[in-house]
This record gives sequence, structure tokens and C-alpha cells, in this order.
Amino acid sequence: MAISKPSRKTLPLEVRGTASHPLGMSPAQFLRDYWQKRPLLIRNAFADFVPPLEPNDLAGLACEPAALARLIVHDEKRDRWHVHPGPLSEDDFAKTPSTHWTLLVQDVDKWDADVAKLLEHFNFLPSWRVDDIMISYAEAGGGVGAHVDQYDVFLLQGLGQRHWGISDDPLAPKEFRHDVELKQLAHFEPTHEWLLDPGDMLYLPPGVPHDGVAFGGPCMTFSIGMRAPSQAELTGDLADHIAEHLPEELRYADPDLKPAKATGEIDRAAIERLRTALPFAAALSDDMLRDWFGRFITRYRNAQVPAALDKPLDAASLAKQLKAGAQLLRHPWSRLAWSRGKSACTLYVSGHAYPATPSQAQQLCEQRSLDIPRKPGSDELALWLALVNDGHLLLQKSRRR
Ligand code: SIN
Ligand code: CO
Repeated sequence: MAISKPSRKTLPLEVRGTASHPLGMSPAQFLRDYWQKRPLLIRNAFADFVPPLEPNDLAGLACEPAALARLIVHDEKRDRWHVHPGPLSEDDFAKTPSTHWTLLVQDVDKWDADVAKLLEHFNFLPSWRVDDIMISYAEAGGGVGAHVDQYDVFLLQGLGQRHWGISDDPLAPKEFRHDVELKQLAHFEPTHEWLLDPGDMLYLPPGVPHDGVAFGGPCMTFSIGMRAPSQAELTGDLADHIAEHLPEELRYADPDLKPAKATGEIDRAAIERLRTALPFAAALSDDMLRDWFGRFITRYRNAQVPAALDKPLDAASLAKQLKAGAQLLRHPWSRLAWSRGKSACTLYVSGHAYPATPSQAQQLCEQRSLDIPRKPGSDELALWLALVNDGHLLLQKSRRR
């Protein structure tokens, strides 16, 4: 039977689960209308839910050296958050205040077969998309603060009540607080709020700001979290994988090389040869390819890297010493290259990028001991200062009296 498609406006944010439809709709409808798209509160998703684990068992697990546990205490008056990483001890629990704390244990499904059984209710999802079941126990007022998760999560209320606030405002600010080691949002204005009872479940797609606070008394929440590798992780791993399988003899090659016009420049022809050597990088822009290659090639196989100065120099003292006849020598272990991008030129030194003009970059690539003009420009001085402080240019004081 075909499912008729409701318009976005008529999609309810709250539904009620039944024995035949725990999600309040068929899995196909849920995936089409909510999955990775919008939040959904499902009242009674797990009818007569009895938690498969007692709070004491969770506390016991949190004391296991191999378990991933955190005890988070909120000092409400001063708005300070204290995070005690596991393994925890009985003593840690004895010291907890009467309210405003929570215990979180990740991967409980790996430790407890009854908890793992809950995953059967999510069989409509590919099992490799499921990360873990994290269980939290909290006393009244306990929670982890407002935050955003990068993955889909089903927040199933197991015991007691939890107040949830979420924001479905796409323009909601996403800056973090800098004074808390938890990645909490600096600002949070809920657009929707609910009180969840045991068996109720809140589904959140990635990126929805939310805040769950234990209401009234002891509260257990089961978070069925998904996994979705970032493009950065996928790219890194794929690159390693491809690298492992490529034969050594396939290399960067330039049988068409012409005499260098500007020493050290990664020119257009080099970028074209890179494209030949990296056919899977076709989608990358020239700028990205150039920037990656500049960093890569200047740190490639470097047995040593110059050390940065313990005490960085300032621009005024560099200018003064140069005026007094000091020399700038390139560190022998520094490797350099440069390239012209669409809008700017970049100098690469041992894996790092520095903005530079073509003539500055070329001079640094060509000269081991730099010709210093009588009056160097301020941007030239700024570049040399960065290179001196990073250890790539050595300042040799004048021997003149
Ligand atoms: C909790 O259970 O306290 C936090 C779960 C979450 O917000 O992801
Ligand atoms: Co969360």
C-alpha cells in the first residue's frame, strides 16, 4: 500500500505509539518524514516500559575500569559544572549532593544483554548505524546542560520523569560555553518543551539543540545513539586504505618537466600532474589540492623539524636587529614551497602555511641567507617574524662592531 505524503506543515511533532506502531506510524513513514529531518515525540512508544537495568547496576558498571562513565554535578548557584570521569568509586557516589547530578554510562548494550535487547526495536535501521545505548541516572535537576549532538538519537524515558526542551529554530545560535568542559551551548531558547514519562521517547536528528533535566526525583534515560562518520574521518580513512593498496612504483611523475621559471613554485603543470597521480581527487578544487599538497610535500619524509623559539621575538626587536646588520638564514631542516591560489599566494614550510607575496615566497625558496633590503616592508617583516619564531629562519647577529 502506498503511503500518502502529508505536506511539511501538517506533520505532527508529537504522536502516540501503539503495540503495532511503537513509533506512532510505520517505520517507512518515520524514515520518510522524520529521520534526519525533524524531531518527534512519541508518547507511549514502549508501553508499560520496565527498565532492563536497576540504577544500582548502572552505578556498579560505572565503577568498572573498562566502562565509559562520567559523573556530572551542577553547582546551580554558581552555574559551575564538575565532570568526574570514570571509573568511579563508591566514595564518589557517597559524596554526591542530594540533587543536580547525573551519572552517564556509554555502551551499556555491550555489557548487559537485556539492555542490548532493546536494540531489536530499532531493527528498521541498518545495525551498523547504531552506535550504543547510553544510560543516564539523575537526581532532580540533574542533566548535562543544553547541547547539540552530531548524530541521531532516540531518548527513551526509563524511570521517573525528565523535562526536555528542544529548539527547532534553524537560526538558533550554536556557540559553545568556554568555561565548561562539556560542550554546552552558550545560549539556549527552547521552542518546544515536554515532560516525558516512562515509555515516552523523543527522537532528535543531528544538530537540534536540546536540554534534558530530571524532574522531581530519580530519573533514568536510555539514549539509543547512532553513528555517522564525518566526511573528514571518511576521507582520512579512505586515503589510508587507498594508500595501503597502491603499488610503490606508481608515483608523482614529470617526464614533461621544463626548466623552472621560479624556484620552489608549485605551478599549474605540477597541479595537473597531481591530478593524474590522484584520479580520485577529481572533485577537489585546485585551491584545496594546492593547499593540501603544499603542506604535505613540505613535511613529507622530513627526518627533523626545526623547533619553535622558546621565547618568541617581537616585530620591533627583529627590525632593530636587522637594522644592526643581523642576517636571516634558512634552517637547514626547513622545507619550503609556495603556490599562487585564486586570490592569494601561500608559502608552505614544513607542513605549515603562511600568507606571502610571490616575491617573498620566491626569495625564501631561493636564498639560504636572505638579502635584507635597507627598509623591509611591514608585511615582509611579519612573515620573517613568524618564520623566525617557528624556527624556520635563524637570526644571526651581526659581527660588526
Ligand atoms: C542525558 O541522558 O542526560 C543526556 C542525553 C542527551 O542529551 O543526549
Ligand atoms: Co544529547
